[in-house]
Amino acid sequence: MPLADKYAAALRSAGVAFAEDVPLARKTWWRVGGPADAWAEIGALAELQAVQRVADDHGLPVFVMGNASNLLVSDRGIRGLVVRLTGDLAGVDAAGDPPILALGGGVKLVSLLGRAQREGWTGLEALAGVPGTIGGAVRMNAGTRLGEVKDALVSVGVVRPGGEVDELPLAALEMSYRTCRLPERSIVWTASLRTTGADPAASRELVAEHLAYRARTQPVDVPTCGSTFRNPPGDSAGRLLEAAGLKGFRIGAVEVSPKHANFVVNLGGATADDLWRVIGEMRRRVRDASGIDLEVEVHRAGEWP
Ligand code: EPU
Repeated sequence: MPLADKYAAALRSAGVAFAEDVPLARKTWWRVGGPADAWAEIGALAELQAVQRVADDHGLPVFVMGNASNLLVSDRGIRGLVVRLTGDLAGVDAAGDPPILALGGGVKLVSLLGRAQREGWTGLEALAGVPGTIGGAVRMNAGTRLGEVKDALVSVGVVRPGGEVDELPLAALEMSYRTCRLPERSIVWTASLRTTGADPAASRELVAEHLAYRARTQPVDVPTCGSTFRNPPGDSAGRLLEAAGLKGFRIGAVEVSPKHANFVVNLGGATADDLWRVIGEMRRRVRDASGIDLEVEVHRAGEWP
């Protein structure tokens, strides 16, 4: 669908460049989903503020797409404007010893981890192998069994609807396992992370070990969105899903990974509706088998019936 005229006019007069009716499937890790009404790559804070002013003044729905590695986009696509942060909003600055890192919300964790290894920055090992952007990772307090974003986070900068910029210290975010409280409809444009000044060789070793663990236990070379469900307190979603007999379960071109039961694979040509059907079936079967109601970790975007 093209963008409604009133939104298009408001964005143009705010100087925001965008493309219309843009397919999203190829931009997502699951390779599914319909088009965005409009798509903009935003490379500067002032431009992001302009987007948020249009959102507030005209009711334009704005969705920020990070690396789409934990995201299920509806087959019907996303109404309004989908934004990706690039340029200055995907930059890395380091200051101090050991350095505090000022990251643009669009920085990809995989490239950050690569840079950290080259520069000898330590303390970010828990993020090894997490495929998202720092903005997305903050939003869900992403992590691994080594730790979570909140362990290194100092503060975040957000742009609120209307364009106002705010700095929020870690304590204001009430972060816990896979949760973070951010002001409604605000966009994380920057995050400050602390490094630790520990031994870089030990850090490199820990990262390598963890990546090897992931490659051994997870289907890392096929389209998935990582863990589909959060782990329930004191247990593991993967274990519960396997115990409910779900490894290898299929609907259409969607398969529960035979390698790790909390990963759902697009075998090629799956739809978002099929993926959601399989996720619902996984949840139902675990509930029937164990009485535990798993919580979906993957975020859904766009129009759902
Ligand atoms: N398990 C099974 N069957 C399975 C899968 C796992 O019995 O099919 C068991 C394993 O044997 C293990 C336990 O469940 O005893 C936990 O499994 P694993 O070590 O693979 O870790 P996880 O809890 O499933 C978490 C994160 C991952 C992260 C890994 C490794 C969550 C929901 N997931 O997975 O994060 O990569 O630890 O650090 O907390 C993600 O969030 O998207 C993600 C991939």
